[in-house]
Amino acid sequence: MTAVLEERPPAKVNLTLAVIARRQDGYHELKSTFLRIGLTDRLTVAIGGADGSDRLTVTGLPGAPARGNLVLTALDAIRSRVSIALPALDVTLEKNIPVAAGLGGGSSDCASAIRLAQAAWGIGMSKEEELALAAELGSDVPFFLSGLGEALVEGRGERVSPAASISGGAVLLVTPPIALRTAAVFDRFDELNQPNSLEGDSVNDLWPAAASLAPSLSHLRSTLEGRTQDAWLMSGSGPTLFAPYPSVAQAAEVGRALVAARLPALDKALINAVDLVGPDPAWRYP
Ligand code: C5P
Repeated sequence: MTAVLEERPPAKVNLTLAVIARRQDGYHELKSTFLRIGLTDRLTVAIGGADGSDRLTVTGLPGAPARGNLVLTALDAIRSRVSIALPALDVTLEKNIPVAAGLGGGSSDCASAIRLAQAAWGIGMSKEEELALAAELGSDVPFFLSGLGEALVEGRGERVSPAASISGGAVLLVTPPIALRTAAVFDRFDELNQPNSLEGDSVNDLWPAAASLAPSLSHLRSTLEGRTQDAWLMSGSGPTLFAPYPSVAQAAEVGRALVAARLPALDKALINAVDLVGPDPAWRYP
């Protein structure tokens, strides 16, 4: 039996997200405040059998198949940068972070895979190599690789610097069953990007684009704001909406009241009340 290495990759929310400019390569220059939250997946890595290829088993929430998973892409990318033969890895991923939700789960799994694979193989890339690899794999990966709790993220996502940390606190997350591809939201942003094209949002520049692609998301946001009398924000390119609360007990109380109200707009939504540490939500529905 070889050792099994484990990490709990955390989710994030974007407290702010400004799109500065569209770049020649199609990506966008961003300026965003990322906050790590206490909702985590579970990733384990061990040296595998002798059959030669890495194996990934995914359990938990649907939507993150093993095939094409960024975790496997990360292992391939490390292999191609190292000149020695590395044994196959047996990897398991338990998904608790809603998938394709604007919470960075896939990117966080990827950052943890970069660390765990190196540990399992007994190799060590330099910080510069790690960061370059992370940025290549996805725009949100450098933030998770940094290990920072709160950070200002700039450029395409590769410039990560510490931001004044809010100590304590909690958020209530509502993830509706709405498919919003990040690339489609950025494309719509470009289409809408004329003065006064749509009502803006001073906190997340991608909101008008997401709302125009998914009118039901706009309805959900006004329903949540009406019911709770709190401000709700969109994380990343959506569809997760969240509201900050001083304590996780308060976040859970608001969550329970929303569920009790049986709002049609919340049908099939995943709801999580989380602190900033985790590893598990204090309360979740269903
Ligand atoms: O880097 P990542 O694969 O996560 O990006 C997904 C998509 O989001 C990109 O293909 C691009 O369309 C868009 N994107 C962008 N500018 C960024 C990050 C993402 O346009 N800074």
